Amino acid sequence: MSTEIVPIRSDSPLYAGALRLRHEVFVVEQAVPADIEVDELDEGAQHYVVLEGEEVVATMRIVPYGGALKVGRVAVRKDLRGAGLGRRLLEEAIRIGAAQGARALVLNAQVVAAPFYRKLGFVEEGPIFDEAGIPHTRMVRVMA
Ligand code: COA
Repeated sequence: MSTEIVPIRSDSPLYAGALRLRHEVFVVEQAVPADIEVDELDEGAQHYVVLEGEEVVATMRIVPYGGALKVGRVAVRKDLRGAGLGRRLLEEAIRIGAAQGARALVLNAQVVAAPFYRKLGFVEEGPIFDEAGIPHTRMVRVMA
């Protein structure tokens, strides 16, 4: 499988594949309500996908957030987790943030995923809060 990360917009034919994977991971696996999984930021966001053949097997999106960038909807197909794809996506986000002169990368991490983001230089900020019935923590990676 290629681990090339392909940048797409919501008008790309690959966007449907990204939404399919997100549905499978967040709505089916994690019981996030379908009507909040896709939100108003999706249409204008920069999306990224990793493909196996024509299937999207990993995805994330990035949106502007003041002088920072907000990373979200990070998902890897269940059977491919633990193989470094999530790390590849976040390393790409860090590279993009640096290239764009972003002040920081921010994200709302599921508390159980916080160790994954910590390994990539993110630190928790503020209290734990509920989002879609799942405990979350805000995490920030200040760019050097
Ligand atoms: N808890 C603790 N450590 C974790 C972890 C977790 N949930 N997920 C990954 N890690 C660690 C890995 O062990 C690895 O450590 P190492 O470098 O010391 O070996 C490192 O983080 C990178 O892991 P990687 O294989 O790149 O992660 P992944 O491809 O499985 O992607 C997620 C991580 C969280 C994106 C993936 O598990 C996923 O899609 N989960 C379901 C959706 C989700 O919860 N998304 C996050 C929403 S905030």
